[in-house]
Amino acid sequence: MATAFDRSGDSPTLAQLRAAHVARTRVELIRDYQVSLQLRASIEGTGSYLPERVLDNFELERMVDTNDQWIMERTGIRERRIAAAHETTSSMAVEAGKIACADAEIDPAELDLIILATITPDQLVPAAACLVQDALGAKRAAAFDLNAACTGFLYASNVAAGMIGSGMHQRVLVIGSETLSRFTDYTDRNTCVLFGDGAGAAVFTARRDGRGVLYSKIYADGEHAKLMQIVGGGSARPSSNATVDARQHYLRVAGRHVFKFATNIFVQLIEETLAACGLAFEDVAMVVPHQVNERIIDAAMRKLGMPAEKCFVNIDRYGNTSAASVPIALDEARRQGRLNPGDTAILLGFGAGLTWGATVVRM
Ligand SMILES: CC(C)(COP(=O)(O)OP(=O)(O)OC[C@H]1O[C@@H](n2cnc3c(N)ncnc32)[C@H](O)[C@@H]1OP(=O)(O)O)[C@@H](O)C(=O)NCCC(=O)NCCS
Repeated sequence: MATAFDRSGDSPTLAQLRAAHVARTRVELIRDYQVSLQLRASIEGTGSYLPERVLDNFELERMVDTNDQWIMERTGIRERRIAAAHETTSSMAVEAGKIACADAEIDPAELDLIILATITPDQLVPAAACLVQDALGAKRAAAFDLNAACTGFLYASNVAAGMIGSGMHQRVLVIGSETLSRFTDYTDRNTCVLFGDGAGAAVFTARRDGRGVLYSKIYADGEHAKLMQIVGGGSARPSSNATVDARQHYLRVAGRHVFKFATNIFVQLIEETLAACGLAFEDVAMVVPHQVNERIIDAAMRKLGMPAEKCFVNIDRYGNTSAASVPIALDEARRQGRLNPGDTAILLGFGAGLTWGATVVRM
């Protein structure tokens, strides 16, 4: 799928395409030329931030009735990061955003939109994205939060791609940032082993050279909203002594149900994405999935018949960081040289809502 023009910043001319595709028909040449000229949201830079404090399985053994072996076997998680008292979702988002902007060689003042995907904003009002906008000095950028749980980065990339494709925005910073430790019940062994804190970011800019988002699709099914939820603190059950006493400000998960959903949806997303884009497994350099559970990822890759090494996994070090997990993994994949300019990657996520979605991007 890669063409000789993927690394250049300019649109290829018809003459260049003709030279590279001498054997192809005139119809194919014209189609390629038109596709190559489409305005696309290209990932120009990425960044991530993980708090220093490590919470490993042995420390959890001292907090709840669990053990390292159970957690490793059932989830693949060895340790996760926990934000320091002074750190927040917006402060981690700022750090990841700064690195992504530097990587893209863009001054934050040039951004025209910031989308922060999170389920753990600093406070209900205002949007944490506005705090990020201020801290980055991104004075020209509009800013909003987006809540699609673990699918947050996929939803936000979809919006960014649409905004850029329509010509409405040119430089969009998409961030996934979560401080899940503040909403995790460390007396509940069913959930406290799963989650961690962190932030990942990507700068999308408008390009017409064939790079960028080739495909993006997002879904929701609110019928299963209760599978993962924080019931306290919203307008339905405002914070009160009673909601605090009932521990309703913590994330609750119906793990076994989510496990089944996640395994099936992973396979479905990859199959429909490949079909929609006319891609074969061999065309995909890397699958970057939401880091939900290593068993889910392994089972899905086996079912698809895709080699495990085509899938980026870092859940052992960070656990599930919800909206931050895909951009952190994407950033690590790029920095480790596992995703390079011209490569095609499938990013995918699924989570509370229920929500799920996938994005295909040519780097
Ligand atoms: C949570 C998850 C790891 C549990 O693994 P599982 O193999 O499905 O385990 P089960 O739910 O069948 O529970 C098996 C037993 O382990 C116990 N258990 C749960 N957590 C445990 C822990 N941390 N340590 C030890 N035992 C634990 C359960 O109580 C259960 O005991 P029981 O059979 O006596 O009731 C797995 O279901 C999962 O990863 N689900 C998706 C995670 C998720 O929802 N993420 C958020 C949204 S993306």
